Amino acid sequence: MERHVKRVPLHFLFVLVWFLFTLSVKSMSMKRSSYIIHMNGSHMPKAFSTPHNWYVSMINNSLQFASPTLLDNHKPQPSLLYTYNNVLHGFSDVLTLDELEALKKYPGFISAYIDTTITLETTHTPSFLSLDVSNGIWNVSNYGKDIIIGILDTGVWPESPSFNDKGISAGVLSKWNGSCEGGEDFNSSMCNGKIIGVRYFNKGMKGFIDPSKIISKDSARDDIGHGTQVASIAAGNYVDEVSYFGYAKGTAVGIAPHARLAIYKVSWNEVSRTSDTVSGLRQAIDDGVDVINISFATKVTLPLYEDAIAAASFSAMEKGIVVVAAAGNKGPNDDTVSNGIPWVLTVTASTIDRWFAGSLIFGNGETISGWSMFPGETILQNLSLVYKRATLSSCTSLELYNVKDKIIMCDSGNFTDQIDSIAKSNASGAIIVSDIAILRQNQDIRRFPCPCVVISSKEARVVMSYINMENNDSPMVTMNFKQTFTKTKPAPTVAYYASRGPSLSFPYNLKPDIMAPGSWVLAAWVPNIPVTHTGFKTNLYSSYIINSGTSLACPHVAGVVALLKAAHPNWSTTAIISAIITSADKFDNTFSPIQDYNSHFASPFDMGAGHINPNKALNPGLVYDATPQDFVNLLCSKFSEEQVFTITTRNCSNPSPDFNYPSFLSFYSDRKASFVHTFQRTVTNVGEGAATYEAKVVPVPLYTIVEVSPMTLVFQKKYEQRSYNVTITYKGMLRDQEFTYGELVWVDKTRKYKVSSPIVVHPRVEGVF
Ligand SMILES: *[C@@H]1O[C@H](CO)[C@@H](O)[C@H](O)[C@H]1NC(C)=O
Ligand SMILES: *[C@@H]1O[C@H](CO)[C@@H](O)[C@H](O)[C@H]1NC(C)=O
Ligand SMILES: *[C@@H]1O[C@H](CO)[C@@H](O)[C@H](O)[C@H]1NC(C)=O
Ligand SMILES: *[C@@H]1O[C@H](CO)[C@@H](O)[C@H](O)[C@H]1NC(C)=O
Ligand SMILES: *[C@@H]1O[C@H](CO)[C@@H](O)[C@H](O)[C@H]1NC(C)=O
Ligand SMILES: *[C@@H]1O[C@H](CO)[C@@H](O)[C@H](O)[C@H]1NC(C)=O
Ligand SMILES: *[C@@H]1O[C@H](CO)[C@@H](O)[C@H](O)[C@H]1NC(C)=O
Ligand SMILES: *[C@@H]1O[C@H](CO)[C@@H](O)[C@H](O)[C@H]1NC(C)=O
Ligand SMILES: *[C@@H]1O[C@H](CO)[C@@H](O)[C@H](O)[C@H]1NC(C)=O
Ligand SMILES: *[C@@H]1O[C@H](CO)[C@@H](O)[C@H](O)[C@H]1NC(C)=O
Ligand SMILES: *[C@@H]1O[C@H](CO)[C@@H](O)[C@H](O)[C@H]1NC(C)=O
Ligand SMILES: *[C@@H]1O[C@H](CO)[C@@H](O)[C@H](O)[C@H]1NC(C)=O
Repeated sequence: MERHVKRVPLHFLFVLVWFLFTLSVKSMSMKRSSYIIHMNGSHMPKAFSTPHNWYVSMINNSLQFASPTLLDNHKPQPSLLYTYNNVLHGFSDVLTLDELEALKKYPGFISAYIDTTITLETTHTPSFLSLDVSNGIWNVSNYGKDIIIGILDTGVWPESPSFNDKGISAGVLSKWNGSCEGGEDFNSSMCNGKIIGVRYFNKGMKGFIDPSKIISKDSARDDIGHGTQVASIAAGNYVDEVSYFGYAKGTAVGIAPHARLAIYKVSWNEVSRTSDTVSGLRQAIDDGVDVINISFATKVTLPLYEDAIAAASFSAMEKGIVVVAAAGNKGPNDDTVSNGIPWVLTVTASTIDRWFAGSLIFGNGETISGWSMFPGETILQNLSLVYKRATLSSCTSLELYNVKDKIIMCDSGNFTDQIDSIAKSNASGAIIVSDIAILRQNQDIRRFPCPCVVISSKEARVVMSYINMENNDSPMVTMNFKQTFTKTKPAPTVAYYASRGPSLSFPYNLKPDIMAPGSWVLAAWVPNIPVTHTGFKTNLYSSYIINSGTSLACPHVAGVVALLKAAHPNWSTTAIISAIITSADKFDNTFSPIQDYNSHFASPFDMGAGHINPNKALNPGLVYDATPQDFVNLLCSKFSEEQVFTITTRNCSNPSPDFNYPSFLSFYSDRKASFVHTFQRTVTNVGEGAATYEAKVVPVPLYTIVEVSPMTLVFQKKYEQRSYNVTITYKGMLRDQEFTYGELVWVDKTRKYKVSSPIVVHPRVEGVF
């Protein structure tokens, strides 16, 4: 289904100005940061005997651009940290932004990256989400202290360093009713203050599989790796000196490092059955967990009344447990989202601002940083570089040529085939020209068996002009691997593979709900399953892995829910979901609206309400609270009484298609027919006291009038509630299958809080029921 989205540009401008204003105040800081600066060696003036002297002089000169206050106060001056002649042509330096700007004007300047080799969070996503020890939600929630996250997945590798219990009191939590029963290969000494419970559920699997084919033990030990990853992302404790073969080096930490974990192995090598998942879920409820993350979506889209997970998660919600689930990896097509259950927080995946690189230093000193995840220890210095159009350039029949001890350049072909062919060949390494943006969207990109660096076709032209230089009989190149850069832009963007809404199992509330980091995430791994290989034979093992998928986004949200539960113990499930949804970010690190993988603006069906912002979710200002009965009333308006009873074990009394949720969905059956659709909402003031909020609709969905009544909400004190109505008048002008969207934002007078809800006008979706 083809959909075209249009937004009203003028309104956007307004939002942009507002954001830029608040941000520009922060960027005036004169903080020095260290950068790695790449210079084009051929621009070095003859007056300098060595590159080092050239760099020192440049830095001396850049000082005149420094702010006078910096100089007057004898603050640390810019200083040259390292000069790289062999490894990188350039240097590393400690500079202010002004000084950096001055350096950029130098002839020969190529690029500058902020230096992150000493970064403190390897998982990096906590810092990407601005989690900070002295401010905000980590501080207030005490890192999720004593909240129990139930993980229904492939089990756990309890010996992983991420599950240490340093800083967590060993005492038993009074609310905890579970136990440590991991089965074979497990004993109770493997539980600690971090992993407080372990169980496994395999009866469904055993009933389904021919007994002679079952290899899994009766054990909660993770023999797949998935569960260990997600547990470490949600609640891994601090571990120093972690990396994936040198990439993403630093300290690893999860989102809620002081939360506890209860592990339920429900997913098996042979098969994963809903029955095992549902009994795990029910057990988790009895055991007293606070947050549940369901591991698997059913393969086919089921109506809610046939989805056992919908029913089990409904009882979890009734007990105040927040259930978080992944949207799935069936994108980027529409209507692919899984777990479209109204009371479950459905999570989609974003890319983050981190880049893994290998560098190329050519014989003339030119340097290019390309993309690489080659895990080996190979050092390739001053090797001969060959490129032969038409014969060698596809790099697939390399056995026909003498490429021994050479670096070859490949400029066309199937990437998967190329890396395998190069790995098998006698070539020392390769430069592959490809569309990096598209390759990076690929989920399996950890497979990097050859010493190869991927560059763009623009960079390839620079390489070609070096190879074709006059008097260049023997082009040479040096390759280095294992480089990590952060703060790349734009980020976040919606990941290519992430499933898109609307949900076919129940289209009447917006899915997915929220987006969280899911691409290139570093997480704990089981040490006996290879993470990748070099060449064709050598399997490589690691305690940490880099991976992508909505299942890696999901535990980020489970971790944030744990932090919110610790900070606000008496908030309902829906209050927590509301806080996460209404505070989500709509803008990326270039201050533009978040983009989809194809550089178009992302719609609510791509990213839900936006990218999760844990510190803002801590203090959302207002929350939309709903009771389990409100969800029942919603179901009653769509399903028969019997069907509703199957899901909720409650009867219908007051059917209503509208319920108190922070999003507005309006469907049309006939795009040419105008209509008026009214929604009623009630918000609760969870800010510090009296407050006045004003409604803004920015942008207004195309061809609609959106009226909010009243436009101002006045609260005298905390926990007071106010109601308002939203009326959407659609003028019947969208084209076939088009949808349009906008946003209602309640802004308080002090501008401290912005409470946003997506508005979507959409063609009626044929659900599965
Ligand atoms: C380096 O400088 C030379 C000479 O000006 C130029 O031909 C070349 O393209 C430059 N390389 C890069 C990567 O900018
Ligand atoms: C840079 O400045 C320092 C003092 O400001 C001076 O001692 C040094 O000689 C200068 N170096 C160059 C290469 O200009
Ligand atoms: C919160 O931050 C303050 C300083 O801003 C610090 O003294 C306190 O220890 C922090 N609390 C936690 C739990 O980290
Ligand atoms: C539990 O397992 C650990 C590690 O394998 C072992 O050292 C310990 O003796 C076992 N304890 C019991 C009670 O079996
Ligand atoms: C504790 O667990 C037992 C057995 O799983 C269960 O019967 C009981 O209801 C649970 N208690 C609570 C308070 O949930
Ligand atoms: C590589 O070549 C450069 C420039 O020709 C030279 O300075 C350097 O020493 C060489 N490195 C090795 C390891 O041969
Ligand atoms: C590698 O080189 C050796 C000889 O040096 C040759 O026998 C072999 O076939 C080559 N392998 C490939 C895959 O080209
Ligand atoms: C590349 O080749 C592999 C098999 O060799 C195939 O599975 C894959 O779909 C191909 N990729 C593209 C983009 O054609
Ligand atoms: C959460 O659920 C998703 C799928 O819904 C799963 O892939 C992921 O492993 C789970 N994470 C945790 C922390 O249980
Ligand atoms: C939390 O507790 C306060 C007072 O203890 C109560 O007034 C308020 O309604 C509760 N908040 C929520 C969201 O349930
Ligand atoms: C629901 O309705 C059925 C009859 O349709 C009745 O037997 C049952 O007691 C009702 N249950 C509740 C919880 O009200
Ligand atoms: C919202 O609309 C309903 C029904 O039209 C009306 O009864 C109610 O008073 C309105 N509420 C507000 C706050 O305007």
